[in-house]
Order: sequence, then structure tokens, then C-alpha cells
Amino acid sequence: MKQNYIQTSLELHIFFARIMKEHSLFLQAGFMPIGNDYICEAQWYKGEFEKLLSDVVNLSNCRICQNILDSGEIVTRYTFGAEKKTSELTGIVIDTNITLQELNLQPNGYSYSDTRLTDYVCYLNNRAIQLLDGLIGLKERILRDVLSCKLFTANYPLLLEHIIREAKLYRQYVIMLQSGQDITCEDRKQVELFWNQIMMEHALFIRGLLDPTEEQLITTADNFAKEYQKLLDEARNMTDETIKTITDKTITETVKYRDFKKAGAEGILGCDIRSIILPLLADHVLREANHYLRILKEDS
Ligand SMILES: [Fe+2]
Ligand SMILES: [Fe+2]
Repeated sequence: MKQNYIQTSLELHIFFARIMKEHSLFLQAGFMPIGNDYICEAQWYKGEFEKLLSDVVNLSNCRICQNILDSGEIVTRYTFGAEKKTSELTGIVIDTNITLQELNLQPNGYSYSDTRLTDYVCYLNNRAIQLLDGLIGLKERILRDVLSCKLFTANYPLLLEHIIREAKLYRQYVIMLQSGQDITCEDRKQVELFWNQIMMEHALFIRGLLDPTEEQLITTADNFAKEYQKLLDEARNMTDETIKTITDKTITETVKYRDFKKAGAEGILGCDIRSIILPLLADHVLREANHYLRILKEDS
């Protein structure tokens, strides 16, 4: 139980703390000079989630299962380059040492754990909840101000809603861990509904951030959005038992989609695609697809 609590917590943070620090960076990079207060706030959360991630990574050697290390949800082979390039393009400092450290993590084997470690992980979990409360609040304020036309940002309102949902899912999982619940046997239908919507929205963002001349890529992104919409409609009518019948279809679709995102990350990093997509955003959505695929395959 203790081992499970430690490992599950670390595996959760090592994916999501990075996601949150990147959301904060995307927010920071999206404002105009007049939005300086928001820029500072977003930067603060970027720094705090970076510290949280770093603390988690320092504990994670020999404590994360092989499956997760291999899934490409923690880092991909593009992450380091995407961070360097995004840093150059935005002027925002990114701690790439964390990425290098993550690339060298060894899978779980023997690792020493005692009450002190459990207490420390418990402290990390509580710190994550506190930070998430703050970051969710910030994202909600930004969304409200954007929707009432008091604030301009390069990030779509739907992207703001999307990153609020991701943060709330993360918070829900940490809270479950803190109350002794198991997050791995989560309601399968809800999981697929959540991530299919996330995947669909990524396609909508990609479509909207590509240069209008990238017609082929826009069509492909559009088709992915339609496919996920279909899967969502199908899944809504399913029960927890019958959902399994569309899981295979979802896996097939998501493998294709992951390959599309991989090609996208490569094309954007290689300066071969015309767009207003930050390299780190391309890698971010690729990691989220890898994360979803890993969950789908584990459950099937
Ligand atoms: Fe995200
Ligand atoms: Fe996302």
C-alpha cells in the first residue's frame, strides 16, 4: 500500500506537473505587453510547477514503471529540442536539466522507502493540490476576462477551457490519492469520454493554428476532429461493459493520431510547417496522446 501510494503519486506528477508548467508557459507567452500582471502570475506558476516536477524527478529513479517510461508521456525525443527552441523564440527560461534527468530514469526495481519518504510524498501531493487550486483559479479568471473582452491573448477560449479541464482532472486524482483511493481503476467510460474530447480539441487547435496555406494538414486535422467526435457520440451511449467494444477502435485511431502529431512536432521543429504553433505545444499534445494510448492499452 505504501509502495503503491508512493509510486502512483510519482507517476501521476511526472506526467501532469510538466503539463501544468507548460500550460503556464503557454499562458505567459500568449499575452500582450499590457497583460503584464497576468504574465507575472503565469510565470510564477510555471516556476512552481517546474520546482514540483524537479522534486518529483529527483525521487523517481527506480520508482516509475517501465511501461510509463517507454510510453513517451514523460518526455519524447523532441522534448529537449522543443524546449530549447521555444526558449529561444519566447525568451522564457526553461530548465532543460529536468528533461535530461528524465531521459535517464531507470525503471522501478529495488528502491528504499520508509515513513519519511511516504510523508514527503504526502507533502508533495498537498503542495500539488494547493498549486492546482491557484492555477485553476488563474485560468478561470483569464477565461472570464477574455470572454468579457477585457483581455486579449493569443490562446483560444476553448484552449483555456481545455487546460482548465486537464488541471481539474489532475487535482481530482491527487485528492483521490490523498483520501486513500485507487486512481487506476477509474471509471473507464469517463476516462475515454474525457480523453476523446481532449484529442478532438487538439485537432481543432492544430487546425486553427496552422497557416491557411497548409491545406493538406488542415484537412487531416479536421478529419481527426470528426473521427473523435464520432467516437465521443458512440461512447456516450455505452455502458461501462459495452465501452470495451469501441476501445479497440479508439486505440487504432489514437495510434494514427499520435503518428500525425509526431510528424507535426518534427515538422515544426524542423521549420518545415507554416504555423503559429510553439514547438513545445506540438510536443505537449504528442505527450498527451502517448499518455492516453498507454492508459487505453493498459485497460484493454
Ligand atoms: Fe495540456
Ligand atoms: Fe491537451
